[in-house]
Amino acid sequence: MPKIAFVNGSYQTINKPSIKIEDRGFQFADGVYEVIALTNGVLIDLNFHLDRLNRSLREINIEWPTAKEAFNAICAEVIRRNRLVHGSLYIQITRGVSARDFSYPKGLKPSLIIYGRHSQENQNLKKIECIKVITTQDIRWDRCDIKSISLLASVLSKAKAKNKLAQEAWFLNKDGFITEGASSNAWIVREPNIIQTHPTNSSILSGITRLRIIRLAEEQAIKVIEKPFSLSEAKKAKEAFLTSSTSFVQPIIDIDGTQISNGKIGLTTKKLLNSYLKFMG
Ligand code: PDD
Repeated sequence: MPKIAFVNGSYQTINKPSIKIEDRGFQFADGVYEVIALTNGVLIDLNFHLDRLNRSLREINIEWPTAKEAFNAICAEVIRRNRLVHGSLYIQITRGVSARDFSYPKGLKPSLIIYGRHSQENQNLKKIECIKVITTQDIRWDRCDIKSISLLASVLSKAKAKNKLAQEAWFLNKDGFITEGASSNAWIVREPNIIQTHPTNSSILSGITRLRIIRLAEEQAIKVIEKPFSLSEAKKAKEAFLTSSTSFVQPIIDIDGTQISNGKIGLTTKKLLNSYLKFMG
């Protein structure tokens, strides 16, 4: 496990963090974050992640805590100090520290935390794990496009999934459509080489892996439909999978107890997984 984190201006051991009790991230979840995959020491789609972080910050009126060059240098230093080769980088920016009050004062200095996590092996060699998902009501707020650190609905939904021996929870909106997963984007394969996912709007996070998969699909003449799908459509799908920076492309073989794709990874999912692994290098 990496031991060194960047916390508000200095490199500290991860077990002795100096987070202030009145950091607004801690008190109000008043902040945003990014998780970026790292393969062979390279941050995957770093610029897309930084663009999304920039947007999340802008949407909640938090300034960048550092200049861009300094920020990149800190990321590189965290990777270097922890000898990170394969894994992920976690970045969190909160509004900063002030006496607990719902309204925030002007001119607060944002807090910045960056640390890394090792993965056991090169992701490309990882065994493909087919997973089960359950569905649960989408009880989140109306701005799921902001990568907010307020993740309680996702935490509770994951616990519900775990209780049912599933690995992910898919959120169902009031109209019976699946928006996304608790920590991933949701996809179905309608027909071989035709994939479908919820369009980007305030109901979902615009996943960076989702974006990359759309590009890789188009290169392989796989048709992408960005349109909500219902639970019954999902259960009837030829294949299903999820995407995220930590799971990449993960096959789904069971939705609420209904078996999908004969319980194994389907051809279209496999094609996309292989092209994503190849892209990561
Ligand atoms: N979660 N939707 C939600 C709600 C997410 O939390 C995530 C990622 C995604 C996929 O986004 P991306 O492809 O950019 O990772 C979609 C990360 C991995 C997390 O919170 O750990």
